Amino acid sequence: MAVPPAPRTPARLVVLVSGSGTNLQALIDASTEPDYGVDIVAVGADRDGIEGLARAERHGIETFVLRTSQFDDRAAWDVALAERVAAREPDLVVLAGFMKLTGPAFLALFGGRTLNTHPALSPSFPGMHGPRDALAYGVKVTGATLFVVDAGVDTGPIVAQVAVPVLDTDDEAALHERIKTSERAMLVEWVGTLARHDFHIDDRAVRLGRPANDQGPA
Ligand code: GRF
Repeated sequence: MAVPPAPRTPARLVVLVSGSGTNLQALIDASTEPDYGVDIVAVGADRDGIEGLARAERHGIETFVLRTSQFDDRAAWDVALAERVAAREPDLVVLAGFMKLTGPAFLALFGGRTLNTHPALSPSFPGMHGPRDALAYGVKVTGATLFVVDAGVDTGPIVAQVAVPVLDTDDEAALHERIKTSERAMLVEWVGTLARHDFHIDDRAVRLGRPANDQGPA
């Protein structure tokens, strides 16, 4: 029986950010270890002047910015984003605090290869305010979810989740900061694992390795 080809090593990774970029920084730090198996080949953003871009620049990583206001509409922005990311030929794309939904053009190229991290335990509290919504609901445990991006809002197949207790003393900022500590560790562990082993999606289950019937190149 033919042995399935190994994934490209190191895997080429494009990271998209919108903010402080602490998740990006965790990936940058991990990727300095050759055994981690990841090469961050570009960092993109939907806005200028953010610490996430500065972190990439300090590490000599290529950056780009595509603001939606530069384009006639969201569809044109989505096409431009897809083309810009494709130019770096990534094996994986990670949305690390990227505050835009990727659209059909992007998903046509990178659906099934794009990960996002959400600061709540999916399917609870999707959207922009996971920690705030968890606090408002009064849950005692929340957390973070790493998932494969699909066309919905935080609805894709789940790679990993980490639980974080909600404390009586928490406000939104304190809870989100504690979630982010666990979120970064989960992200680093699983991006490396998926990059080194490849993965496929079986219904909604994310499985390591190629599908059993896939012997060919990616
Ligand atoms: C993370 O909690 C992410 O899940 C959410 O925004 C935060 C980004 O943090 N969407 P950072 O920019 O990586 O510090």
